[in-house]
Amino acid sequence: MLEQQLNGAMKANAPDDERFKIIQWDRDGADQDAYKDDGIEKIIQQRCVMCHNKDASGLPNFNDFEQVKKYTAQDEGATLSSLTRGSHIHMFGIGFIFMFVGIIFSFSETTSVKFKCIAVGMPYAFLIADIVSWWLTKFVPLFAWLVIFAGMGMGVSFIFMWVTSILEMWLYKPVYIDGIPYHYEQWKKRINEDGDASASNTLFKLIRLAGKNLNVLTRTIMEKFQTVVLPLIQQVFKKNLKK
Ligand code: HEC
Repeated sequence: MLEQQLNGAMKANAPDDERFKIIQWDRDGADQDAYKDDGIEKIIQQRCVMCHNKDASGLPNFNDFEQVKKYTAQDEGATLSSLTRGSHIHMFGIGFIFMFVGIIFSFSETTSVKFKCIAVGMPYAFLIADIVSWWLTKFVPLFAWLVIFAGMGMGVSFIFMWVTSILEMWLYKPVYIDGIPYHYEQWKKRINEDGDASASNTLFKLIRLAGKNLNVLTRTIMEKFQTVVLPLIQQVFKKNLKK
């Protein structure tokens, strides 16, 4: 906390070399003898105590070594007991939310059974991944990425089920009967039927043709790069190395 503040909100309150000295002392273990001997106390008295004293309400009193010491402790993140409490609450709370959303969603008519199984089951997998990743992050910080990823997975499943259910309940006809998905299906059918000379069909064929040619083009470029450009670069490097 001390280091964080000295590099953040308190940065302007002491020159760089003095901030560095305090941070160094903090990292070396924030020893009480070194506090006096290395002149840390003098810096704190000179730069910080005008604000951080016993008369300032809400601010730590830095006349008292113990209070300075308190801010040198390493932030170890969530404690095991808060993790346990959080896991318990989330597992049951979110589990129930997804159960109710899942039950409502299971009545939907526009989603196939296979998709429904995936959509209803996925949040539980992500929920478990999410909570497991908190514990893993406690020991291996890299797993913080899994926390983000699993959280996003839960969000996406929730949005999918929620949006589908609400649309079917409130806007079934305008959206699914007359709306975009219907027109999209029609359009897809049309462009798949050969011999239809409608504008979208031609456009689709053109895009497919361009895709095919792009493939060939990319392959040719890669090949030329490997057989012509790369040897040239190697030659230049070899020449320069000889010099
Ligand atoms: C001009 C007055 C002032 C000076 C000088 C000052 N501080 Fe602060 N400090 C504050 C205020 C106000 C806060 C609380 C608001 C905030 O966090 O930005 C604070 C907050 C802090 C906190 C966080 C306290 C908490 O419990 O959140 C630390 C640590 C801290 N200061 C360290 C220092 C150190 C070290 C110095 C000397 C280099 C220093 N401050 C100099 C006014 C000051």
